[in-house]
Amino acid sequence: MDSSLWVAAGTLLAAAAVLRAQPPAEVERRVESLLTRMTLDEKIGQMSQSTQMKTPISEQIKAEIRAGRWGSFLNAGSPADRAEAQRIAIHETRLGIPLLFGRDVIHGYKTIFPIPLGQAASWDADLIERAARMAAREATAEGIRWTFAPMIDIARDPRWGRVAESLGEDPYLASALAVAMVQGFQGSKGLTDSASLAACAKHFAGYGAAEGGRDYNSAWIPELLLREVYFPPFRAARDAGVATFMTAFEALNGVPATANRFLLHDILRGEWKYDGMVVSDYEGVTEMIRHGFARDAADAAREAATAGIDMEMVSTAYHDHLKDLVESGTVKVSDIDNAVRNILRLKFRLGLFDEPIPAPAQAQPSAESRALAERAAIESAVLLKNEGGLLPLGSSVHTVAVIGPLADSGIDQMGTWSMDGRGSDVETPLAALRALLGADRVLYARGLQNSRDTTQAGFAAAVDAARRADVVLLFLGEEHILSGEARSRAFLDLPGAQEALVEAMAAAGKPMVAVIMAGRPLTFHRVATHAGAVLYAWHPGTMGGPAIAKLLLGQAAPSGRLPITFPRTVGQVPIYYAHLNTGRPPAETELGIPMGSPINPKDYTSRYIDVDFTPEYPFGFGLTYTTFQYSNLRVSAPAMHDGERLTISAEIVNRGTREGTETVQFYIRDMVASVVQPVRKLRGFQRITLKPGETRTVSFALSTADLAFYNQQMRLVTEPGKFQVWIAPDAVHGPMGEFELRHSPSAR
Ligand code: NOJ
Repeated sequence: MDSSLWVAAGTLLAAAAVLRAQPPAEVERRVESLLTRMTLDEKIGQMSQSTQMKTPISEQIKAEIRAGRWGSFLNAGSPADRAEAQRIAIHETRLGIPLLFGRDVIHGYKTIFPIPLGQAASWDADLIERAARMAAREATAEGIRWTFAPMIDIARDPRWGRVAESLGEDPYLASALAVAMVQGFQGSKGLTDSASLAACAKHFAGYGAAEGGRDYNSAWIPELLLREVYFPPFRAARDAGVATFMTAFEALNGVPATANRFLLHDILRGEWKYDGMVVSDYEGVTEMIRHGFARDAADAAREAATAGIDMEMVSTAYHDHLKDLVESGTVKVSDIDNAVRNILRLKFRLGLFDEPIPAPAQAQPSAESRALAERAAIESAVLLKNEGGLLPLGSSVHTVAVIGPLADSGIDQMGTWSMDGRGSDVETPLAALRALLGADRVLYARGLQNSRDTTQAGFAAAVDAARRADVVLLFLGEEHILSGEARSRAFLDLPGAQEALVEAMAAAGKPMVAVIMAGRPLTFHRVATHAGAVLYAWHPGTMGGPAIAKLLLGQAAPSGRLPITFPRTVGQVPIYYAHLNTGRPPAETELGIPMGSPINPKDYTSRYIDVDFTPEYPFGFGLTYTTFQYSNLRVSAPAMHDGERLTISAEIVNRGTREGTETVQFYIRDMVASVVQPVRKLRGFQRITLKPGETRTVSFALSTADLAFYNQQMRLVTEPGKFQVWIAPDAVHGPMGEFELRHSPSAR
């Protein structure tokens, strides 16, 4: 559909949504009325979700739908199958309860956007919201009304493959972007809008803290850290009206998240008063047997149902055992009824009972979705190095050598969750460079067949191309299958013979630019030494090619900033900016330790003897084609009292000759507290665009709520004393100011 049709259709749908929208009390009345008419079997059916709807739908599944066996299907069927299954559910079942179709629409549906970690590097909530809205439009057009996104697990370990799907290491940034994604998926017209895709805050909670970065592994997180770091994005998603939550696979503090009463009962339903639906993860219920938490499937069903899992994904413990458990009095009918209420409430909120069954339609990338995906890929890319202004490529560059296994691999550049994206829709960097420069100016040699290839047979052709070119553009990184679920790595370097390829290319003596496409922070120190410029493009999605080509050629300028710290070596992991200071912090003078040359500790500080304690690239870092200077940091008053606000401002000037976009970051530090506070905490950010020579005063408002932390009694408090503040280009630089928080007597 072209954009004007989209708009017209959108207006009609919005009007219809308003007509359908029902007051909450009316929804509750309908839920209760339906609940009283349901048999126990029908209730348990609603609590069950299956993957078993294939194309074409089997007679068995049709019969099961007629019998009310399923409430939902995930990642299943074609648009026509979904329409047919819905017709059966509505017209051929006793109560006509519609099905809910869920799918992993994570970073795009037909049009694939950069992986979430890449999107997070844009620090552009508005853009991220628009990308999610586009994905929702495409997916809902094909009869999908529920996505299992956003994944908002704080991720501080790049070994964990799902870091790709995360919004990075920082709770403040991840919360802001989580809200943007929820709003984008669900839309602004309410869930009843047929283009609204119910979102799912996952995986509650602590999944990203898997020990050793090994997926599904146990996480041990003190309550204080849960509240400070791991919960905030979930709380923000809840406040933004996220329709559903998904529990995590892992055992958190020894109790599987799937039956973790502290998480589900005390926090989610208790403290947060969440009235949406909670789904388990894939077979998470029966996996509690292997965890050693449940004796058998019946025990697992009891644990999950009583803890508050409304819907069981894929495994069938609810179907197989809940009826007996209820009839024997082991599980209360009220637990079942509450779960079914949450499920029916969502189905009513989505308007599924009231809307006509949508005619099966096919979505595909449009000019509008491609333009948005290109914008997202441009804003996601982070320029990490640009020695001597090698980028953008100047007019002296006539011929480029495009080298590497990621230069022309549509599938790989789509990234981890791209089951609905088609490789044929993808525009690769090679194709884009040929289009922009003319094919005769682009020499291409793959060098390696894929990112894991260890053979060097292709090196000679690559070196030959380099010799004939003015500049070498290296497309390195990870194939898409190396990141994502169950793709944890113990090494973070470029896989295969990629480093050797770069060494070989260096012998050609031509300026080299490394473009790295990957699903996680990698360690590539030697490559960065050889290359004059390094652009980190993540897995940039359908339009990654044109985006990268435009960045290299200066038709666009990089503006991405790292949403996660890049280590020098895997041995530093976990490494993140908001760490505590220790009693023996290392000094700046202890920097510059050459890798691999141990020295004796003279000073007994908290560092390594064989590598610098600092990261390779800090959180928040990113260059562009101009430089910005920060100065004149001002704090509006030397002290503030409870309930007051301060304004912190600084001047940013564009010192270069090109327009540029800077992400101005605002950090605080509480100098002395009853619970030691991080050396910096992000409390705000603004993207600004400045013309050459232009100066802008950027201000951040600070309230006492921004200074609050959880004390030893798990109460959110502020304590009087000194604070430092920075307005900064990243988590380690920038001018610093100070103020004092004074408690007014009444607040004591
Ligand atoms: C397992 C993953 O952990 C979860 O994130 C995903 O949504 C489900 N599978 C469904 O595919």
